[in-house]
Amino acid sequence: MALVSSNPGLRVLFITPEVYPLVKTGGLGDVSAALPAALRGLKVDARLLIPGYPQVLTGLKYKRKIAEFTAQAPFPPSTLLSARLSSGTSAGVPVFVIDCPALYQREGGPYVDAAGHDWADNALRFGLLSKIGAILGSDASPLAWRPHVAHCNDWQSGLVPAYLHFHQGEKAASVMTIHNLAFQGVFPPGTLTQLGLPASSFDINGAEYHGSMSFLKAGLYYSDHIVTVSPTYAREIQTAALGFGMQGLLATRSKHLSGIVNGIDTTEWNPADDPALAKNYTVGNLAAKAGNKKALQQLLGLIVDPAIPLFGMIGRLTHQKGCDLLLQAAPQLIEMPAQLAILGSGEAILTQELTTLAKNNPGKIAVRIGFDENLSHLIEAGADSFLMPSRFEPCGLNQMYSQRYGTPPLVHATGGLVDTVVDCTPATVADGSASGFLFYDMAPGNFLSAIRRVTVTYKNKTVWRRLMKNGMAKDFSWRSSAAAYRNVYLSLLS
Ligand code: ADP
Ligand code: GLC
Repeated sequence: MALVSSNPGLRVLFITPEVYPLVKTGGLGDVSAALPAALRGLKVDARLLIPGYPQVLTGLKYKRKIAEFTAQAPFPPSTLLSARLSSGTSAGVPVFVIDCPALYQREGGPYVDAAGHDWADNALRFGLLSKIGAILGSDASPLAWRPHVAHCNDWQSGLVPAYLHFHQGEKAASVMTIHNLAFQGVFPPGTLTQLGLPASSFDINGAEYHGSMSFLKAGLYYSDHIVTVSPTYAREIQTAALGFGMQGLLATRSKHLSGIVNGIDTTEWNPADDPALAKNYTVGNLAAKAGNKKALQQLLGLIVDPAIPLFGMIGRLTHQKGCDLLLQAAPQLIEMPAQLAILGSGEAILTQELTTLAKNNPGKIAVRIGFDENLSHLIEAGADSFLMPSRFEPCGLNQMYSQRYGTPPLVHATGGLVDTVVDCTPATVADGSASGFLFYDMAPGNFLSAIRRVTVTYKNKTVWRRLMKNGMAKDFSWRSSAAAYRNVYLSLLS
């Protein structure tokens, strides 16, 4: 695009509630680290804005106070700090931190308390993130650095486009990325005026949502452009089946809605030098991968046997991720020649049932409850195949990690999984594109047939090696997707 070279000073404020490695609950944390870094590689001056949770304040070593916000009722006073991320690929990315002890300085997760309940003041917590994002994106900013684009991510920053819309004066364009439409930030109707937005925003043509208000709907309605994290999900969310009540609005905005598939951090996720692995390996030295299977079997108390197909699964243990389908399929699954290594945390009932399943099948099924970054890398390397029976999946990152690790994924044909995994068929094996296994329709029988397909294919060492190599050769880097985001930004300026 001509504008690329004529606009080298493009500035973007990337507003997000989490960023790896400071604070991460899922894929948004990974994306918030890797995408801004990739944008900076394309000469886009991308800077982050995040809340000052305790782990953010302790994780960032050199912080400078650059502004104060004292008169932003109903929000408590806050201070803006400036720092830079300091590890991995995102090292050096500038970050603005909102230090507001009354809202963020507490033990627990970014969205929920230690017992797993939403923080009662989440509307204020993320109202402040949105408010400061909008101030920094407008001529009311106390900073000399002013972004051309405010790039919002998920409901927690959904009020930024609304605040900008009602701001009289110069302001940035806004982009709203949907990482997951199921999380909508719904609060009582009075929340809008409490947070300083005009009463007129409580409207079907605005932030009103079935008699309540929704942060996400505000973002979808008032933003200049909407992005979601894969082309297939961009289509799916315009239908009743996966639109979570927003399909009508999204369909009317379809000319301003793009699907841009996520990339992955190929430095952080590289089997050739990943320090969390028992043995590093490359496509030229695949035999070494077996050392990781052995280490994983030993670590998790599974029977140590190189010949049994070992399936891995990592993630939030929720209905979205299809844990219930796995449980329904379990009676037949345990009769099959297969082992299962699961790492995750989430809904109490699913956690309990999976733990019981493991207890009843020692040596065959292992479940670890909790968040464990190192173990997640070892599972990606040590498993033979990776399971993602997600009911819906906006993009999904683990299926890309697993292909890069030579661990062909078995996935439900939905969202970004369709866009990033090529089903193993005679035709795709012949043309060199096969990289995993897809199943259609969320029924235990279909899932089990796909597992059978994996176990049968696994015995054919020639085809299996081809699958591994095809996946490892794919380019999952951020390069082209970051360029697609840059084109979205530029289209809003021209
Ligand atoms: P989602 O964002 O919907 O949870 P993604 O596949 O996009 O799903 O990203 C999930 C990210 O979080 C991946 O990096 C995955 O490895 C990581 N993750 C999820 N649960 C755990 C866990 N229990 N331990 C370690 N990493 C986890
Ligand atoms: C969400 C989605 C996941 C996506 C991630 C990062 O949490 O559930 O599919 O990969 O965000 O965009």
